Amino acid sequence: MFVLAIETSCDETSAAVLRGGASHRTSAETSPGTCDEGPCPPALTAAPEILSNIVLSQDEIHAPYGGVVPELASRQHIKTITAIVDESLSRAGVGLHAIDLYAVTQGPGLIGSLLVGLSFAKGLAYYFKKPLVGVDHLAAHLEAAFLENPDVPLPALGLLVSGGHTSLFHLENPLSHKLLGRTRDDAAGEALDKVAKFLGLGYPGGPVIERLANGGNAGKFPFGIPRTKDRSLDFSFSGLKTAALKLIREHKISRESPSLADFLASFEEIVARSLVDNVRQAADEVHPHSLILCGGVARNRRLRTRFQEFARGSGLPAFIPSPKLCTDNAAMVGAVALRKFIRRPVAAPDLDLDAYPR
Ligand code: KG4
Ligand code: ZN
Repeated sequence: MFVLAIETSCDETSAAVLRGGASHRTSAETSPGTCDEGPCPPALTAAPEILSNIVLSQDEIHAPYGGVVPELASRQHIKTITAIVDESLSRAGVGLHAIDLYAVTQGPGLIGSLLVGLSFAKGLAYYFKKPLVGVDHLAAHLEAAFLENPDVPLPALGLLVSGGHTSLFHLENPLSHKLLGRTRDDAAGEALDKVAKFLGLGYPGGPVIERLANGGNAGKFPFGIPRTKDRSLDFSFSGLKTAALKLIREHKISRESPSLADFLASFEEIVARSLVDNVRQAADEVHPHSLILCGGVARNRRLRTRFQEFARGSGLPAFIPSPKLCTDNAAMVGAVALRKFIRRPVAAPDLDLDAYPR
């Protein structure tokens, strides 16, 4: 099957073409549709192949504002979506007539941005009379880990860290996620972006902070790990952000300060440690067979290192998508859609599919 996937939940316009299909976990003696334990539904046993995965970032448009401006984001998606879909098809060497399934992000995200992708995908699916599957953005981020490692041992504990979300999930299987904890205020990426904005370092803040923190002393500035009073698995980053802004004022830190690298390294370190702290507590509670780290902030090398150190120490395998699959991209959306379609095939496009912001 060829899948054309579209992702426009925030400020990246992305389209991807994937090739994949169903197969059964059968031994040589059993027939398709049965496995060694009896009848079984078809399942993805091999990761789909990514034939193209085009991502156009709007960073330059939002940079002057230090954050995403929703109205500008949706207008930009409208301008670029046709070219991005065209590019994804031509890179894959696949024409629209060959597409068997359309996939699109339904939410959560910016409602105007989501509607651009959703309307575009509906139009194509309707015209070509092909099924259309709506995909949850968070499920797609988690799926990125399975795209590169289809045999992630389950149940898995998944930490999703992005600009809009910081959540911990217990995954019984790739399509079933139980929320264990989430941020009560800012997402980790949002805290990084806001501190960078305060210092006038540019947008998005995460990658800039990572670059400028390079070589800094992460123990130089005192940050305490934020903990929720009830010791739940929820996160909180707004206190950390406020502490960072207070230190910036007290120590008169600016873009030009000699202590900038030390300050940013200390902040990056505390963000990474507080994320891993909750993973440690959750792992003690749910005893997963593996660990997943995903979302845009999972590109951060310090966080990847701290996560892997924890995994090694606890004897659990860790799965972290390669950087290009951590930030928003349509390939992860197509992979979820394929999984959903194989589990429950649909013949006609669902034109009632609606976007949801939260
Ligand atoms: O997943 P994503 O592309 O979009 C959302 O769904 O939010 O994540 C974007 C977030 C931004 O906050 C950005 O600053 C952060 O990911 N980010 C990073 C890095 N690259 C992107 N944070 C830290 N280090 C990075 N290298
Ligand atoms: Zn995202």
